Amino acid sequence: MVAPTLRSTLIAALLAVFADQATAGAIASKCPSRFDWENSQLTDATISSSDASLFGFGPDAATSQLNSNRPASPKCKTFPGDASWPSQTVWNKFNATLGGALIKTVPLAAPCYSNWPQYDAAACQNVRTRWNDPRFHVEDPTSAMFPLYQGRTCMPTDDPNSSNCTLGGYASYSVAVTKVSQIQLALNFARNSNLRLVVRNTGHDFGDKSIGAGALSIWTHKLKDIQYLANYNCRGYKGPAFKLGSGVVTEEVYNAAEKNGVTVVGGECRTVGIAGGYVAGGGHSPMAALVGMGADQVLSLDVVLPNGRYVSVSEDSYPDLYWALRGGGGSTYGVVTSVTIRAYPKVPVTTLGYAYTTGPNVTTETFFKSLGVYMSYFDTFTAAGAYGYFLVTAIGPDQYLFSMNPMWGSNMTKPQFTALVTPFLNDLTNLGITITPNITEYPTLYQAFNGTFPPEVVGGADNHAASRLFPKENFLPAKLPQTLAAVRHAIEGGGILIGYNIRAAPNPTVNQNNSVNPAWRKTTGFFILAATWPANATDAQIAQASETLTNDWMARWRAVSPGAGSYMSEGDINEPDFQQSFYGEYYPRLYALKKKYDPTGLFYAPTAVGSEDWEVKGQVAWIPTQNGRLCRKT
Ligand SMILES: Cc1cc2nc3c(=O)[nH]c(=O)nc-3n(C[C@H](O)[C@H](O)[C@H](O)COP(=O)(O)OP(=O)(O)OC[C@H]3O[C@@H](n4cnc5c(N)ncnc54)[C@H](O)[C@@H]3O)c2cc1C
Ligand SMILES: *[C@@H]1O[C@H](CO)[C@@H](O)[C@H](O)[C@H]1NC(C)=O
Ligand SMILES: *[C@@H]1O[C@H](CO)[C@@H](O)[C@H](O)[C@H]1NC(C)=O
Ligand SMILES: *[C@@H]1O[C@H](CO)[C@@H](O)[C@H](O)[C@H]1NC(C)=O
Ligand SMILES: *[C@@H]1O[C@H](CO)[C@@H](O)[C@H](O)[C@H]1NC(C)=O
Ligand SMILES: *[C@@H]1O[C@H](CO)[C@@H](O)[C@H](O)[C@H]1NC(C)=O
Ligand SMILES: *[C@@H]1O[C@H](CO)[C@@H](O)[C@H](O)[C@H]1NC(C)=O
Ligand SMILES: *[C@@H]1O[C@H](CO)[C@@H](O)[C@H](O)[C@H]1NC(C)=O
Ligand SMILES: *[C@@H]1O[C@H](CO)[C@@H](O)[C@H](O)[C@H]1NC(C)=O
Ligand SMILES: *[C@@H]1O[C@H](CO)[C@@H](O)[C@H](O)[C@H]1NC(C)=O
Repeated sequence: MVAPTLRSTLIAALLAVFADQATAGAIASKCPSRFDWENSQLTDATISSSDASLFGFGPDAATSQLNSNRPASPKCKTFPGDASWPSQTVWNKFNATLGGALIKTVPLAAPCYSNWPQYDAAACQNVRTRWNDPRFHVEDPTSAMFPLYQGRTCMPTDDPNSSNCTLGGYASYSVAVTKVSQIQLALNFARNSNLRLVVRNTGHDFGDKSIGAGALSIWTHKLKDIQYLANYNCRGYKGPAFKLGSGVVTEEVYNAAEKNGVTVVGGECRTVGIAGGYVAGGGHSPMAALVGMGADQVLSLDVVLPNGRYVSVSEDSYPDLYWALRGGGGSTYGVVTSVTIRAYPKVPVTTLGYAYTTGPNVTTETFFKSLGVYMSYFDTFTAAGAYGYFLVTAIGPDQYLFSMNPMWGSNMTKPQFTALVTPFLNDLTNLGITITPNITEYPTLYQAFNGTFPPEVVGGADNHAASRLFPKENFLPAKLPQTLAAVRHAIEGGGILIGYNIRAAPNPTVNQNNSVNPAWRKTTGFFILAATWPANATDAQIAQASETLTNDWMARWRAVSPGAGSYMSEGDINEPDFQQSFYGEYYPRLYALKKKYDPTGLFYAPTAVGSEDWEVKGQVAWIPTQNGRLCRKT
């Protein structure tokens, strides 16, 4: 059997040579093919003429732009109870056409309420036990991890606004999609019936961009395919890559990368959806200081457009969408069904964890001085490829905690990392701060991640977060004192700082010409700031805390970093001038693309591109929710 083996080896070698030449020339190279369920598509031919009014496609982007005679769109989206709301017969027909994938919403906490048929004390106890675990919400078609903007109308706790359980900001129906044709049907049905549409993957969004009252929700959770492409060779990139269904979450990709001996760029939370809000919003990562943002890693995407048509998007197919879908925000230009991201050879990771508080040897002055000392290393650390994830908070009157959870050196051995951090640790010692640094080297990203990142806690309605992308200048000597003073003001006022020492490294091996907020490219400190209040707080107290966050604490942060921005995926739903903060100078171009691809406004999400043209009715000042009717402003 030697001869045939030798022969096939020779053929393979010849083919490899030919493949290289093919890449150099213009012959199609080895690009990934679609998943099976991506080949199950709706076409004009598969929609019967009697169903065209319900399920027919919208006009193409190019023609709709030219067509100025389109009938005016209704001012408000149809709401349950309206005469124009689809009848039960129509919903049943829609469900049958979907193959039974339609789910009528039952709030996750319904078992805790006697006015729901799901009422059940044992089930309610389970809801209460699991409510703060992101996984519990991820598995549900409609829930959101930040119930404040849902309206707190069905909390499992004694929330003052949850006297009985109503849908509030939850969508009315979800489609548990398992194939592209169902997404196309849902988009066409929502557009033709003037329904509010939302896209929900995991429900992680800080501003509840994945829910909406009276909406039809596309639930992408079941799109779980992960395909490892060891020898991806397409459009100029040759090497390892992954094609991911849009329901795949961070830990699943990290796991797959671990099994294949490579590294991928993902976030710090185990259950954030990679192809959903993460890539769409930019995506920060412990790898960012080495290889750039999550969105920078995307080679191609497959997308159902607002008109219902299914397209592949890459550098040379819909290049404008390739730019906009990588950073311009979720739920804006279509429904992404899969992304292909590049992978890297595996890297060792060294981590550092420690914590200290004020106390007999550490005065409040020394504590904040030490924070300034850490900030003074931000540029050095990120330039070396390191990342820091830390917490600063008051733990009592005039008592404070700093906790590093962890600092992280990608592609660094323990000796390399130790050399990097030793001058800083010596500075802490010189301030009289005694810490026990725990420096651990892991062979891979997944093991470091699994070994060091704490599990996330979500589901509370007792806090409100905002964020700032501070450029490196803020931590250089000329500006550090003012920056530190602004940060200290917020922490002394009761704010909780969740900080990242991070940068989006320039990376010539990927395409970084995308719509990631340009502020990210200058950042070395990304700071999330949360205001909190007691569980029994009144709406007036919640509103006041939220206003203080936005108009006092964050106002000072904005004042010391003029022209910088905020991260849309971990931002303030009340962010002033959100267009500048979340999108920077790219906003006008993103807005024009929104008008081009979604001329009828099918996609809406709070603070998404184009959202300023809409309003959700019935708002309480400073506590915006998704639980009212969605209407055009003019
Ligand atoms: C505990 C926690 C930790 C986090 N850690 C990180 C981190 O380390 N790095 C980081 O960058 N971010 C992090 N985030 C923020 C996270 O990236 C965003 O919340 C992100 O929007 C989540 O995306 P998702 O698809 O999982 O969630 P969802 O809330 O389901 O969706 C978010 C947005 O994307 C839209 N969307 C979802 N799927 C699609 C799709 N297929 N097509 C089109 N639009 C879609 C939704 O409509 C919505 O607007 C964290 C958030 C939390 C709560
Ligand atoms: C849709 O159809 C499936 C299967 O027939 C059924 O189980 C489900 O309850 C239906 N959904 C709705 C909202 O009626
Ligand atoms: C409180 O709940 C009601 C519905 O019961 C809702 O209309 C209202 O918007 C909620 N208030 C806030 C501030 O979320
Ligand atoms: C639930 O609350 C809403 C508004 O707060 C009210 O209209 C409705 O009657 C209540 N339902 C029950 C069963 O108590
Ligand atoms: C970035 O991409 C956009 C959209 O494809 C293109 O118009 C622009 O020229 C590109 N810019 C650079 C610097 O390559
Ligand atoms: C405080 O400083 C003293 C003297 O240097 C030292 O003995 C003691 O261990 C320190 N206490 C703490 C909590 O670090
Ligand atoms: C990790 O470091 C090695 C050796 O310096 C280098 O060759 C490799 O490119 C680095 N990997 C990444 C992902 O930067
Ligand atoms: C992840 O960490 C847990 C303990 O925290 C450990 O039991 C498990 O083996 C780890 N998994 C991997 C793949 O390292
Ligand atoms: C150091 O950190 C590792 C990983 O987080 C952990 O397993 C170990 O117990 C820690 N050691 C000490 C002394 O805290
Ligand atoms: C909330 O509870 C605390 C005690 O736990 C009480 O002092 C306070 O008055 C309560 N606030 C409201 C608004 O009910």
